[in-house]
Amino acid sequence: MHFQPKLFVLLYFSFASLASAGLLTPDRLLNRDDASDNYCNPPNKTPCPTNVPLQFGLILFPSFQQLDVFGPMDALNILAQQLPLNLSILASNLSSVSNRPLHPAMLLPGDNLRFEQRVLPTHTFSNPPDNLDVLIVPGGLGTRNPNTMPEVIDFIRNYAPKTKYLLSICTGSGILARAGVLNGYKATTNKAAWLEVTPFSNQTHWIKKARWVEDRNVWTSAGVSAGIDMILAWMDKVYGERPVIDEQVPDASSNLYGEFVGRRMEYNRERDWRHDIFADIYPGEDVLPEGQGTEDGKPKKEKKPKKENAKPKWGEGSNYI
Ligand SMILES: *[C@@H]1O[C@H](CO)[C@@H](O)[C@H](O)[C@H]1NC(C)=O
Ligand SMILES: *[C@@H]1O[C@H](CO)[C@@H](O)[C@H](O)[C@H]1NC(C)=O
Ligand SMILES: *[C@@H]1O[C@H](CO)[C@@H](O)[C@H](O)[C@H]1NC(C)=O
Repeated sequence: MHFQPKLFVLLYFSFASLASAGLLTPDRLLNRDDASDNYCNPPNKTPCPTNVPLQFGLILFPSFQQLDVFGPMDALNILAQQLPLNLSILASNLSSVSNRPLHPAMLLPGDNLRFEQRVLPTHTFSNPPDNLDVLIVPGGLGTRNPNTMPEVIDFIRNYAPKTKYLLSICTGSGILARAGVLNGYKATTNKAAWLEVTPFSNQTHWIKKARWVEDRNVWTSAGVSAGIDMILAWMDKVYGERPVIDEQVPDASSNLYGEFVGRRMEYNRERDWRHDIFADIYPGEDVLPEGQGTEDGKPKKEKKPKKENAKPKWGEGSNYI
């Protein structure tokens, strides 16, 4: 390519004027709170969708399951390049939260406390932001911790009515159930923990063969990786169509936000919430709310659990997540 003085001068002055206008300073690039300017498909500056959830709250507790958190988080990280999302991370206090067990009930044989990753909260349960649109509740071994759970459950019980959406991953739905916020809702959970989690609410319709379950504003996913399928389906539903078809995938048949994010993640997505290959591997079946018949109108027979399928005690380490 020949050196083109005119182009160089033009570029130089474009950058210089942007810089002098404060448009290229790190502050400007980091505090991208002017939605019309930086988001929603630059450089076309198509309007951002309005009335969509932007304020996210992530609940953390010691011994949370990493992928429950960072599957959905990474999908949201990508969405946050498109929309002005804001994340608050809530925990008991502002110390870093580890994914390793802190209670003997959660220790498995050979557990290695030296292999851990920690996350820094931004807010405490006693001093949360008051404007969260979405609460995200992961599961993990820590859901069995009798010392740390009461505070988490209380927080969710009090805060959930104020949010637009409640999303749980894996045994996170057990936390929601204990907070009473799944009463009157359909839900699912990790299939390996089915017999432990479903008794936490007898007012919930627990659906076993489900990668995730959507019921109005409450979305619950099956185990660990299922949270990614759930959050992408949630994005499709809640944020709808992205303004311009992604330039990198010109033949994309759909440009819903979840599709866009899934492609960016090169994620091999499950789009059918009913397609759950793990439901048949583990014992247990659908559970209807107390006092309701089966869907074919016949009263529900109480089934005694078979001996080998007897309900394991919460926290005895029979299930790992
Ligand atoms: C912070 O909370 C964690 C989890 O609840 C707890 O184990 C830890 O002791 C607390 N740290 C402080 C400094 O209070
Ligand atoms: C994100 O939300 C929190 C809690 O409301 C708030 O403290 C923070 O300033 C917000 N950040 C931005 C960039 O809006
Ligand atoms: C249903 O759950 C509630 C609250 O935990 C409990 O008080 C009630 O006894 C349960 N009902 C049955 C039939 O187990």
